[in-house]
Amino acid sequence: MTYELNESMADHGLSLPGEMHVAPDADTLYDDLALVFTCLGQEADEERGEFHIALSGGTTPWPFYQRLLIDTRFRAVPWLRTHIWIVDERRVSDDDDLSNFKSLRGSLLEGIPTPPSQVHPMMVTRDAPDVLYEAEMRGVFGMPQGLPRMDFVLLGMGGDCHTASLFPNSGAIAVKDRLIVVNDGPNVTPPARVTMTYPLLNAARQLAVLCVGAKKTEALQRVAEQMKSGPDPVNVPITGIQPTDGGLTWYLDRDAAGIKD
Ligand code: 6PG
Repeated sequence: MTYELNESMADHGLSLPGEMHVAPDADTLYDDLALVFTCLGQEADEERGEFHIALSGGTTPWPFYQRLLIDTRFRAVPWLRTHIWIVDERRVSDDDDLSNFKSLRGSLLEGIPTPPSQVHPMMVTRDAPDVLYEAEMRGVFGMPQGLPRMDFVLLGMGGDCHTASLFPNSGAIAVKDRLIVVNDGPNVTPPARVTMTYPLLNAARQLAVLCVGAKKTEALQRVAEQMKSGPDPVNVPITGIQPTDGGLTWYLDRDAAGIKD
């Protein structure tokens, strides 16, 4: 499958690490991302016979998930051979409105044919959920050591430039020797979280950061400003997203990019 994205808008002052795709409006952006995702899925399926994806919660991705579910243009996603992982999760039960998994179930999971054994919620209400999730991931990938590679990771960004549940000045920022950790404490927006770490995220083949709307502009400008002097994951966590051997693309609509008429 080949694809042609809508032309990226060039007239923005942002310089972010990696690639940027700026669409004229949110609908176009979600379409473009869904198209890229479908192609990556087919490519992974052809090359490796499976498609490992890690999805974020938050409000921004909802229309993207809905498109994958409803829009016939994206039917070619190899759902039967897809493994669905969760980027981060709040430590609440999976019927709590704060649960990313609950939100994913409602927006996507209930309508796709992925076998339940390939859907991997975090067991956040159990003891040591990070250890359990890491063990599950290592088992599925058949990798007792080393870094599993997700084919596609969808990230969002908060107003404080956190991504996943990697909050400024929080404990998880410094973790280099784990795939998954519990993140809690004064600098973590409650409730306590379980999150993928930088090493696991950065090992991915493709990372997509999705930002929609003018409420994201200030944080994006902060990232651009920070990158002039280099990444500072402690204070601007998303700058710690630096793929080791993969791609990073920012998917923005014109409002997020701060483009004025
Ligand atoms: C979450 C994610 C978080 C999210 C950003 C953006 O589960 O909330 O961990 O990193 O992607 O906070 O959230 P919005 O999409 O709601 O703006």
